[in-house]
Amino acid sequence: MKFFIDTANLQQIKEAQDLGVLDGVTTNPSLMAKEGISGEENVINHYKAICDIVDGDVSAEVISTDYENIIKEGLALAKLDDKIVVKVPMIKEGVKAIKYFSSEGIKTNCTLVFSAGQALLAAKAGATYVSPFIGRLDDISTDGLSLIEDIRLIYDNYGYETQILAASVRHAMHIIECAKIGADVMTGPLSAILTLLKHPLTDSGLAQFLADHAKAAGK
Ligand code: E4P
Repeated sequence: MKFFIDTANLQQIKEAQDLGVLDGVTTNPSLMAKEGISGEENVINHYKAICDIVDGDVSAEVISTDYENIIKEGLALAKLDDKIVVKVPMIKEGVKAIKYFSSEGIKTNCTLVFSAGQALLAAKAGATYVSPFIGRLDDISTDGLSLIEDIRLIYDNYGYETQILAASVRHAMHIIECAKIGADVMTGPLSAILTLLKHPLTDSGLAQFLADHAKAAGK
């Protein structure tokens, strides 16, 4: 399972990269705004800064919602770095644009996906990644993980190469359950990744090892 970090915060991206388990980054307009990044030049420089930190794919989301401008924006983003993945919303104009990008060999991430039907369209358009938002489905009392199961089944039935990028991950259990289902990628906050590290028996066990060692050494 690939681990992507879901942030535009350079410090958190570097902390995740230094951990040694990071495979990429996803951003979206809200995450960029949260970091105070606005204006074409600042946005471009920020994506370049992210690409300089990580080794894997970096999803950069277009703002346009019409085909012509999605293409224009996406081509400009793709030129920034080979790591850039053009992130496009699951709308009619977006599906058409993903089809074009995939025909040009440009990596794409189809985002704001909330149904198996949307995921099927993303795969047929040739998206590199599809981003079903499991947390936002959970937020409205709908089982986000069952969507991952449905997409996994459909993609395996037909051998679609589109990678399932479980998005809107809220916590460690989302990561574990998506791994059990067979999502190709998860993207989540650093906190969810670090929570995977923690178990009280590990902490108590290490404390006991160190105490026993110190006792034996007469410390
Ligand atoms: C992917 O990058 C999505 O934009 C992101 O995971 C959405 O997460 P949220 O539902 O916490 O906003």
